[in-house]
Amino acid sequence: MNKTKSISVNACRALLALTFIFSGFVKAIDPLGSQYKIAEYLEAVQLSAYVPDWAQLMLAVGLSAVEFTLGVLLLLAIRRRLASKVTLAFMAVMTAVTLWLTVSDPIQDCGCFGDAIRLTNTQTFLKNVVLLSASIVLTRWPLYQVRFISKTNQWIAFYFTIAFILTASLLSLYHLPIFDFRPYHIGQNIKKGMEIPKGAKQTVYKTTFICEKNGVTKEFTEDNYPYDDSTWVFKDTHQEILEQGYEPPIHDFSITDQQTGDDLTDSILTRDGYTFLLIAPVLERADDSNFGEIDAVYEYAKENGYGFYGLTASTDKAVKHWRDITGAEYPFYTTDGTTLKTVIRSNPGLVLLYKGTIINKWSHNDLPQQDELNAPLSLIETGREPEDRTWTKIVLIIVCYVFPLAFLIAADRIWSWTRWVRKREEWLRQKEDWLKQKEQSNRLYQLLKRKRQMRKKIVAGNWKMNETLQEGVALAKEINESLKAEKPNCDVVICTPFIHLASVAQVLDSSLVGLGAENCADKEKGAYTGEVSAAMVKSTGAQYVILGHSERRQYYGETAEILKEKVRLALANGLKVIFCCGETLEEREAEKQNEVVKAELDGSVFNLTAEEWKSIILAYEPIWAIGTGKTATSDQAQEMLAYIRSIVAEKYGKEVAEETSILYGGSCKASNAPELFAKPDIDGGLIGGASLKAADFKGIIDAWKK
Ligand code: 13P
Repeated sequence: MNKTKSISVNACRALLALTFIFSGFVKAIDPLGSQYKIAEYLEAVQLSAYVPDWAQLMLAVGLSAVEFTLGVLLLLAIRRRLASKVTLAFMAVMTAVTLWLTVSDPIQDCGCFGDAIRLTNTQTFLKNVVLLSASIVLTRWPLYQVRFISKTNQWIAFYFTIAFILTASLLSLYHLPIFDFRPYHIGQNIKKGMEIPKGAKQTVYKTTFICEKNGVTKEFTEDNYPYDDSTWVFKDTHQEILEQGYEPPIHDFSITDQQTGDDLTDSILTRDGYTFLLIAPVLERADDSNFGEIDAVYEYAKENGYGFYGLTASTDKAVKHWRDITGAEYPFYTTDGTTLKTVIRSNPGLVLLYKGTIINKWSHNDLPQQDELNAPLSLIETGREPEDRTWTKIVLIIVCYVFPLAFLIAADRIWSWTRWVRKREEWLRQKEDWLKQKEQSNRLYQLLKRKRQMRKKIVAGNWKMNETLQEGVALAKEINESLKAEKPNCDVVICTPFIHLASVAQVLDSSLVGLGAENCADKEKGAYTGEVSAAMVKSTGAQYVILGHSERRQYYGETAEILKEKVRLALANGLKVIFCCGETLEEREAEKQNEVVKAELDGSVFNLTAEEWKSIILAYEPIWAIGTGKTATSDQAQEMLAYIRSIVAEKYGKEVAEETSILYGGSCKASNAPELFAKPDIDGGLIGGASLKAADFKGIIDAWKK
C-alpha cells in the first residue's frame, strides 16, 4: 500500500516538476513575450491602465522564475511540504483562470508554455485539471517524495536555481530570447509562412449583419440579407468561426503606408536583395538610446542600395516625435502591434531580410557596429544567416546549470553517505557501549538490590518523655500483640525512657520487637548523680540506644565530643547505636545541610572501626521536620540519605555503606511512610509522635508491606 502511495506521489511530483520547469523556462527566456501575455490578461479584466509596463515586466520575470524554481524544488524534493502547498495554491489559481478562459474566451492562448506550445483554452483547462489533481496527491502525502539532496545543502540548489533563471531572463531581455519559438525565427521566409497549402481545409465563418428599420434591429445572414429592401439600414456586422481550417504559421503580417493607404507587404517581402526592418511596435515607448547606431545602419543601407523601413503600430504623431529626437530619415509604415511584438522581442529591434527571408535579428542593444559594416552585406558576416546555435545553447545551459547542480547533488550524496557511514559506526559503537553499560549496571543493580535486601529495614519508635510506667507497659504490650498477630516485614524497635526499660522488656517478644533507651551516660560508672550508664541500659534487656538526637544536642548541650564518648561506651557494652544527625531550617536555607550532617558524623562516629560500624544505625532527622508536621519530601530525604551513604562509602567503602541502615525521622506517619520507604536509600524511620499509639505505629510498620 505504501509502495503504491510512494509510486503515485513520485509520479505526480515528476509530472508537475517537469511541467513547471519547462513552462517556467520557456517564459523566463522570453520576458517581453510573457509581459505581453500579462498585458493581454490585464486588458481582458480592464486593469491594464493600472499596471505600468515595468510592473508587468517584473511580474513576468518573477512569475516565470517562481514557476521554474518550484519545478526544481519538486524535482529535487526540497522543502517538500511547503513546495507541495505552494504548487497546490498555484494550480488552484491557474485552473480557475483557465476555466474562465474556457467559458468566456477572452484570450485565445493562455500562454502557459509561452510560444513553445500553443494549446486551446479547453486543452489548457484539462491540462490544469490533471496538474491540480497531481498537486492534491502531493499535498496529501508530501513526505513520500524521495529526496535527492540533503536538507543541509538544499539551500545551495535553491539559490543557484534562482540565480540561473533570473540570469537567463535578464540576458534574454537585454539581447533576444535564447530560443526563438515564434514563426518569425531566423531562416523563415515570411511570405512562405503565410501560404496555405493547396487542398488545405478552409476556415468556415458565419457572418451576421445587424440592420435597423423604424427603430427595430434585426440580424441577417449572408443568405437572407435584405439586398432588395433599402428601408433596412445596415448598422454592424460580426463574424464567428464555425469550423477552424488550416491556419498558416504567419497569418497576420501586412505593411501599409498610412499616408497613401497602399499595401506594401508584397513589394517589401519580394524585394530583391537585402532589406532592413526597424521594428518598433510602440514607438512612444521605444528605447532611443541607440539611435546613432540605427542611423548608421540606415546610412549603410542607403549607400549599398538596401531597403530600410521602420515598422510600427503607432500613430504619425509618435513617428514625428521619433524623427524629432533621433533625426531618423527612413520611412515608417504601419503593421499590427501584436504582429510586430511577435516578430522581435525588442522595442526597437532590427530585422534583416533577404528576399523576404529573415536572415538576422538584433535587439537594439546588439545592433551591427559601423566597423562590421565595411563591405556589402553579401561579403560580410552580418549579411549571412548565422548557423543554428540551438545545440550550442543547450550545451551551454547544461554546462552552466545542469552540470553544477548534478555535481552538487553527487557531492551531497557522497557527503551524506560518508556521514551516514560515520554515524552508523558511531551508533554501533555507542550501542555496544550502552549494552556493556547496561550489562554492568544490571549487575550493579542486582548487587544493590541484593544489598538493599540484605540491609536491615527498621522502624524504631522514640517515645521521648512520654507515658507513665503503666501507660508505657500497656502500649508496649499492645504493640507486641499486634505484631504477634501480623508479623512485620522489618525490624521493629521501641526506645523508651530509662524507667520503662526493665518492665517493657518483660512484655516484649524480643524476636518481634527490639528495645532501646533514648540516651546513656558519657561516663562508664561512678559518682554521676542522675545518669544512667550504657551498662545499666544493657542490663535491662535493651539492645539499642538512641544517641545524638537533636533535642539532646539542643537542650542538654551534647557536643560531638560527648557523643563520641557515649557511642564508644554504648558499643563497648554491646548496644546497637541509632545515631541521629540533621540540620536546622536556617542551615538548609543556606544550603549547608550536607556540610552540617557530615560534620556531625565526622565528629562522633567516623572514628569507629569497620567492625564497630556494624553496630551503627544512622537516622537523618532534619530539625525543622521534627514534631512540626512538616516532613521532608521523599526526594529531599532520598537525596540526603544517598549523600550520607556516599560519605559512609568514602570512609568505610561501598560495601559497608551498602550494608548500613539509614533511617529518616521527622513527622513520619502511616500516610507518608510508603512514599518515603519506597526510596532506594531510605531503610526505615525513627518515629516520634506516631509511635505513641499502637495503631499509628503499626501503620508505619506496615508501609514495608506495600
Ligand atoms: P516526630 O516523628 O514526632 O516528628 O519526631 C521525630 C523524632 O524526633 C524521632 O526521634
